Amino acid sequence: MPDWKHHVFVCTNKRPPGHPKGSCADRGCTDVRNALAEAIDEQELFETVKLNTTDCLGPCRQGPTIVVYPENVWYAGVQPGDIAEIVQSHFVEGRPVTRLILPS
Ligand code: FES
Repeated sequence: MPDWKHHVFVCTNKRPPGHPKGSCADRGCTDVRNALAEAIDEQELFETVKLNTTDCLGPCRQGPTIVVYPENVWYAGVQPGDIAEIVQSHFVEGRPVTRLILPS
């Protein structure tokens, strides 16, 4: 079993059009997931960062939503343009990106 430092879950839940909660799919999670996978590959972080997609994580209206374990950091409203900063600051330097953390 690889010794990952970060296990990242990206919500890729999709709901029918017009659903009152909307979904991360409506807000571009597929592009976020793809940008994250690409950045992990480019930086060769595949032995320290494990990426998975998941169903709804809960805060749908603030998506796309990402959670990172074991540190239990929740990111909200992530866009593809945020991925380089998350990867460098959080996964390489160990400093979560505070401006993207889900408000509690
Ligand atoms: S649909 Fe993504 S958090 Fe609910």
